[in-house]
Amino acid sequence: MSEPVAVDSASADSAAGSDIGVDPSMLLSLRGVTKRFGAVQALKRVDLDVPAGQVTALIGDNGAGKSTLIKAIAGIWEPSSGEKYWMGKKVDTHTPKEASKLGIATVYQDLALCDNLDIVANMYLGYEATKFDVLDEITMEKRTQQTLRDLSVTTVSSVRQLVGTLSGGQRQSIAVARAVMRDAKLVIMDEPTAALGVTQTAQVLSLIKTLASRGIAVLVISHNLNDVFEVADRIAVMYLGTLVSSGPVGNYDMNSAVDLITTGTTSRAA
Ligand SMILES: Nc1ncnc2c1ncn2[C@@H]1O[C@H](COP(=O)(O)OP(=O)(O)OP(=O)(O)O)[C@@H](O)[C@H]1O
Ligand SMILES: [Mg+2]
Repeated sequence: MSEPVAVDSASADSAAGSDIGVDPSMLLSLRGVTKRFGAVQALKRVDLDVPAGQVTALIGDNGAGKSTLIKAIAGIWEPSSGEKYWMGKKVDTHTPKEASKLGIATVYQDLALCDNLDIVANMYLGYEATKFDVLDEITMEKRTQQTLRDLSVTTVSSVRQLVGTLSGGQRQSIAVARAVMRDAKLVIMDEPTAALGVTQTAQVLSLIKTLASRGIAVLVISHNLNDVFEVADRIAVMYLGTLVSSGPVGNYDMNSAVDLITTGTTSRAA
Protein backbone atom coordinates (compact mmCIF):
# COMPACT_ATOMS: atom_id res chain seq x y z
CA MET A 1 0.00 0.00 0.00
CA SER A 2 1.44 3.36 -0.95
CA GLU A 3 -0.76 5.55 1.20
CA PRO A 4 1.30 7.36 3.84
CA VAL A 5 0.38 6.84 7.47
CA ALA A 6 -2.11 9.52 8.35
CA VAL A 7 -3.44 10.94 11.55
CA ASP A 8 -7.15 10.16 11.83
CA SER A 9 -9.40 13.22 11.60
CA ALA A 10 -7.43 15.55 13.85
CA SER A 11 -10.60 17.65 14.17
CA ALA A 12 -8.54 20.61 15.31
CA ASP A 13 -11.33 22.87 14.13
CA SER A 14 -14.14 21.05 15.94
CA ALA A 15 -15.34 23.24 18.75
CA ALA A 16 -15.15 21.83 22.29
CA GLY A 17 -18.43 20.14 23.19
CA SER A 18 -19.47 19.63 19.59
CA ASP A 19 -19.99 16.16 18.18
CA ILE A 20 -18.93 17.17 14.67
CA GLY A 21 -16.73 14.46 13.28
CA VAL A 22 -17.94 11.70 15.59
CA ASP A 23 -18.89 8.62 13.64
CA PRO A 24 -21.95 7.04 15.33
CA SER A 25 -20.93 3.62 14.00
CA MET A 26 -17.91 3.77 16.33
CA LEU A 27 -18.49 2.15 19.70
CA LEU A 28 -16.24 4.64 21.46
CA SER A 29 -14.86 7.96 20.29
CA LEU A 30 -12.64 10.30 22.25
CA ARG A 31 -12.26 13.90 21.21
CA GLY A 32 -9.66 16.28 22.56
CA VAL A 33 -8.98 14.21 25.67
CA THR A 34 -6.34 15.88 27.80
CA LYS A 35 -4.89 14.82 31.13
CA ARG A 36 -2.45 16.74 33.26
CA PHE A 37 -0.65 15.47 36.33
CA GLY A 38 0.69 18.72 37.77
CA ALA A 39 3.34 19.88 35.31
CA VAL A 40 3.20 16.66 33.26
CA GLN A 41 0.77 16.68 30.37
CA ALA A 42 0.21 12.94 30.01
CA LEU A 43 -2.46 13.25 27.29
CA LYS A 44 -2.61 16.07 24.76
CA ARG A 45 -5.94 16.46 22.92
CA VAL A 46 -6.30 12.80 22.02
CA ASP A 47 -8.86 11.84 19.34
CA LEU A 48 -9.41 8.09 19.17
CA ASP A 49 -12.07 5.91 17.53
CA VAL A 50 -12.67 2.33 18.65
CA PRO A 51 -15.00 0.24 16.47
CA ALA A 52 -16.96 -2.79 17.66
CA GLY A 53 -15.84 -6.20 16.46
CA GLN A 54 -12.26 -5.09 15.88
CA VAL A 55 -8.98 -5.21 17.76
CA THR A 56 -7.36 -1.81 18.22
CA ALA A 57 -3.73 -1.97 19.36
CA LEU A 58 -2.48 0.98 21.35
CA ILE A 59 1.27 1.24 21.00
CA GLY A 60 3.97 3.69 22.10
CA ASP A 61 7.14 3.96 24.15
CA ASN A 62 7.34 3.90 27.95
CA GLY A 63 5.63 6.96 29.39
CA ALA A 64 3.85 7.78 26.10
CA GLY A 65 0.48 7.93 27.87
CA LYS A 66 -1.09 4.57 26.95
CA SER A 67 -2.09 3.51 30.45
CA THR A 68 -3.27 7.02 31.25
CA LEU A 69 -5.49 6.91 28.15
CA ILE A 70 -7.13 3.60 29.00
CA LYS A 71 -7.64 4.70 32.59
CA ALA A 72 -9.45 7.77 31.29
CA ILE A 73 -11.68 5.48 29.20
CA ALA A 74 -12.27 3.15 32.16
CA GLY A 75 -13.35 6.04 34.40
CA ILE A 76 -10.41 5.67 36.78
CA TRP A 77 -9.62 9.30 36.33
CA GLU A 78 -11.43 12.09 34.74
CA PRO A 79 -9.72 13.78 31.82
CA SER A 80 -8.74 17.40 32.49
CA SER A 81 -10.72 18.21 29.33
CA GLY A 82 -12.23 16.54 26.27
CA GLU A 83 -15.24 14.39 25.46
CA LYS A 84 -16.17 10.74 25.34
CA TYR A 85 -18.80 9.41 22.95
CA TRP A 86 -20.40 5.97 23.24
CA MET A 87 -22.11 4.85 20.01
CA GLY A 88 -22.13 8.49 18.90
CA LYS A 89 -23.70 9.86 22.11
CA LYS A 90 -21.74 12.03 24.49
CA VAL A 91 -21.27 10.33 27.84
CA ASP A 92 -19.78 11.35 31.15
CA THR A 93 -18.25 8.45 32.97
CA HIS A 94 -16.58 9.66 36.12
CA THR A 95 -16.11 6.32 37.87
CA PRO A 96 -15.16 2.75 36.93
CA LYS A 97 -18.70 1.73 37.91
CA GLU A 98 -20.24 4.13 35.40
CA ALA A 99 -17.86 2.94 32.69
CA SER A 100 -18.65 -0.66 33.53
CA LYS A 101 -22.39 0.06 33.26
CA LEU A 102 -21.83 1.16 29.65
CA GLY A 103 -20.08 -2.14 28.99
CA ILE A 104 -16.44 -1.12 29.39
CA ALA A 105 -14.34 -3.79 31.10
CA THR A 106 -10.65 -3.46 31.85
CA VAL A 107 -8.39 -6.43 32.38
CA TYR A 108 -5.34 -5.17 34.27
CA GLN A 109 -2.11 -7.04 34.63
CA ASP A 110 -2.64 -7.92 38.25
CA LEU A 111 -6.10 -9.09 37.10
CA ALA A 112 -7.78 -8.67 40.48
CA LEU A 113 -8.56 -12.38 40.77
CA CYS A 114 -8.70 -14.23 44.11
CA ASP A 115 -6.14 -17.04 44.16
CA ASN A 116 -7.81 -18.87 47.03
CA LEU A 117 -11.16 -19.19 45.22
CA ASP A 118 -12.07 -21.47 42.34
CA ILE A 119 -12.85 -20.32 38.80
CA VAL A 120 -16.64 -20.21 39.30
CA ALA A 121 -16.32 -18.10 42.45
CA ASN A 122 -13.99 -15.70 40.66
CA MET A 123 -16.35 -15.34 37.71
CA TYR A 124 -19.15 -14.31 40.07
CA LEU A 125 -17.18 -12.31 42.61
CA GLY A 126 -19.55 -9.59 43.80
CA TYR A 127 -22.32 -10.77 41.43
CA GLU A 128 -23.37 -14.13 42.89
CA ALA A 129 -26.41 -15.69 41.20
CA THR A 130 -29.20 -16.27 43.66
CA LYS A 131 -32.29 -18.44 43.43
CA PHE A 132 -34.75 -17.80 46.24
CA ASP A 133 -31.91 -16.01 48.02
CA VAL A 134 -29.76 -19.12 47.99
CA LEU A 135 -26.51 -19.02 46.07
CA ASP A 136 -27.21 -21.04 42.95
CA GLU A 137 -23.96 -22.93 42.48
CA ILE A 138 -25.25 -25.13 39.67
CA THR A 139 -26.32 -22.18 37.52
CA MET A 140 -23.06 -20.37 38.23
CA GLU A 141 -21.03 -23.44 37.30
CA LYS A 142 -23.00 -24.02 34.10
CA ARG A 143 -22.73 -20.40 32.98
CA THR A 144 -19.02 -20.39 33.73
CA GLN A 145 -18.50 -23.55 31.65
CA GLN A 146 -20.62 -22.15 28.83
CA THR A 147 -18.77 -18.83 28.75
CA LEU A 148 -15.38 -20.55 28.65
CA ARG A 149 -16.64 -22.88 25.91
CA ASP A 150 -18.00 -19.93 23.90
CA LEU A 151 -14.58 -18.29 24.08
CA SER A 152 -12.85 -21.55 23.11
CA VAL A 153 -10.92 -21.63 26.37
CA THR A 154 -10.13 -25.32 26.35
CA THR A 155 -7.04 -25.60 28.54
CA VAL A 156 -8.91 -25.36 31.85
CA SER A 157 -9.81 -28.86 32.95
CA SER A 158 -12.24 -28.00 35.76
CA VAL A 159 -14.07 -24.82 36.68
CA ARG A 160 -13.61 -25.91 40.29
CA GLN A 161 -9.85 -25.45 40.04
CA LEU A 162 -8.41 -22.79 42.36
CA VAL A 163 -7.35 -19.73 40.38
CA GLY A 164 -4.03 -19.70 42.27
CA THR A 165 -3.08 -22.93 40.48
CA LEU A 166 -3.72 -21.58 36.96
CA SER A 167 -1.06 -20.47 34.49
CA GLY A 168 -0.72 -16.79 33.56
CA GLY A 169 -2.52 -17.31 30.27
CA GLN A 170 -5.36 -19.20 31.92
CA ARG A 171 -5.74 -16.46 34.55
CA GLN A 172 -5.91 -13.90 31.77
CA SER A 173 -8.61 -16.02 30.08
CA ILE A 174 -10.69 -16.16 33.27
CA ALA A 175 -10.45 -12.39 33.71
CA VAL A 176 -11.59 -11.89 30.12
CA ALA A 177 -14.37 -14.49 30.43
CA ARG A 178 -15.62 -12.68 33.52
CA ALA A 179 -15.85 -9.45 31.53
CA VAL A 180 -17.70 -11.23 28.71
CA MET A 181 -20.15 -12.86 31.12
CA ARG A 182 -20.98 -9.39 32.43
CA ASP A 183 -21.82 -8.32 28.89
CA ALA A 184 -18.77 -6.18 28.17
CA LYS A 185 -18.92 -4.41 24.82
CA LEU A 186 -15.40 -3.04 25.07
CA VAL A 187 -12.62 -5.08 26.66
CA ILE A 188 -9.46 -3.14 27.43
CA MET A 189 -6.25 -5.02 28.12
CA ASP A 190 -2.99 -3.44 29.34
CA GLU A 191 -0.07 -5.60 28.20
CA PRO A 192 -1.91 -8.93 28.43
CA THR A 193 1.01 -11.01 27.17
CA ALA A 194 3.91 -9.21 28.86
CA ALA A 195 4.48 -11.90 31.49
CA LEU A 196 3.56 -14.90 29.34
CA GLY A 197 5.51 -17.60 27.54
CA VAL A 198 5.06 -18.55 23.91
CA THR A 199 2.15 -21.01 24.28
CA GLN A 200 0.25 -18.87 26.74
CA THR A 201 0.76 -15.80 24.57
CA ALA A 202 -0.72 -17.70 21.63
CA GLN A 203 -3.74 -18.62 23.79
CA VAL A 204 -4.35 -15.02 24.81
CA LEU A 205 -3.94 -13.71 21.25
CA SER A 206 -6.43 -16.28 20.05
CA LEU A 207 -8.84 -15.24 22.80
CA ILE A 208 -8.49 -11.61 21.71
CA LYS A 209 -9.43 -12.61 18.15
CA THR A 210 -12.40 -14.61 19.44
CA LEU A 211 -13.68 -11.59 21.37
CA ALA A 212 -13.55 -9.42 18.25
CA SER A 213 -15.25 -12.10 16.15
CA ARG A 214 -18.13 -12.02 18.65
CA GLY A 215 -18.59 -8.30 18.00
CA ILE A 216 -16.74 -7.07 21.07
CA ALA A 217 -14.34 -4.15 20.69
CA VAL A 218 -10.89 -4.90 22.06
CA LEU A 219 -8.41 -2.16 22.94
CA VAL A 220 -5.08 -3.72 23.73
CA ILE A 221 -1.80 -2.13 24.82
CA SER A 222 1.28 -4.03 23.73
CA HIS A 223 5.00 -3.43 23.37
CA ASN A 224 5.32 -6.57 21.27
CA LEU A 225 4.91 -5.56 17.64
CA ASN A 226 4.78 -9.17 16.49
CA ASP A 227 1.71 -9.68 18.68
CA VAL A 228 0.28 -6.39 17.44
CA PHE A 229 0.60 -7.30 13.78
CA GLU A 230 -0.83 -10.73 14.51
CA VAL A 231 -4.07 -9.58 16.15
CA ALA A 232 -4.72 -5.93 15.38
CA ASP A 233 -7.28 -4.63 12.89
CA ARG A 234 -6.33 -1.07 13.77
CA ILE A 235 -3.29 0.60 15.28
CA ALA A 236 -3.09 3.77 17.36
CA VAL A 237 0.31 5.21 18.23
CA MET A 238 0.99 7.43 21.25
CA TYR A 239 4.11 9.58 21.40
CA LEU A 240 4.79 11.83 24.41
CA GLY A 241 1.09 12.17 25.23
CA THR A 242 -0.04 12.78 21.65
CA LEU A 243 -1.89 10.29 19.47
CA VAL A 244 0.39 10.73 16.46
CA SER A 245 -1.21 8.21 14.12
CA SER A 246 -4.11 5.81 13.90
CA GLY A 247 -5.79 3.75 11.24
CA PRO A 248 -6.23 0.27 9.77
CA VAL A 249 -3.30 -2.08 10.35
CA GLY A 250 -2.72 -2.24 6.59
CA ASN A 251 -1.48 1.36 6.72
CA TYR A 252 1.52 0.26 8.79
CA ASP A 253 4.45 -2.09 8.69
CA MET A 254 7.06 -2.93 11.30
CA ASN A 255 9.37 -0.09 10.18
CA SER A 256 6.76 2.65 10.12
CA ALA A 257 5.40 1.48 13.49
CA VAL A 258 8.88 1.63 15.04
CA ASP A 259 9.48 5.09 13.53
CA LEU A 260 6.21 6.36 14.98
CA ILE A 261 6.89 4.86 18.40
CA THR A 262 10.42 6.25 18.64
CA THR A 263 10.11 9.61 16.86
CA GLY A 264 6.37 10.33 16.57
CA THR A 265 6.60 10.49 12.79
CA THR A 266 7.48 8.38 9.76
CA SER A 267 8.38 9.08 6.18
CA ARG A 268 7.90 5.44 5.21
CA ALA A 269 4.80 4.12 3.58
CA ALA A 270 3.63 0.63 4.51
N1 LIG B 1 -0.59 9.09 38.75
C1 LIG B 1 0.34 9.81 38.10
N2 LIG B 1 0.86 10.93 38.63
C2 LIG B 1 1.76 11.68 37.96
N3 LIG B 1 2.22 11.40 36.73
C3 LIG B 1 1.73 10.29 36.15
C4 LIG B 1 0.78 9.44 36.78
N4 LIG B 1 0.48 8.43 35.94
C5 LIG B 1 1.22 8.62 34.84
N5 LIG B 1 1.97 9.74 34.95
C6 LIG B 1 2.87 10.29 33.93
O1 LIG B 1 2.15 10.35 32.71
C7 LIG B 1 2.99 9.96 31.63
C8 LIG B 1 2.34 8.80 30.87
O2 LIG B 1 2.35 7.63 31.70
P1 LIG B 1 1.65 6.26 31.29
O3 LIG B 1 1.70 5.38 32.47
O4 LIG B 1 0.34 6.56 30.72
O5 LIG B 1 2.64 5.73 30.15
P2 LIG B 1 2.56 4.38 29.33
O6 LIG B 1 2.49 4.75 27.90
O7 LIG B 1 1.52 3.50 29.87
O8 LIG B 1 4.02 3.76 29.60
P3 LIG B 1 4.49 2.22 29.83
O9 LIG B 1 4.66 1.66 28.44
O10 LIG B 1 5.81 2.40 30.49
O11 LIG B 1 3.48 1.53 30.65
C9 LIG B 1 4.34 9.63 32.22
O12 LIG B 1 5.17 10.75 32.08
C10 LIG B 1 4.03 9.35 33.65
O13 LIG B 1 5.14 9.67 34.46
MG1 LIG C 1 1.54 1.63 30.85
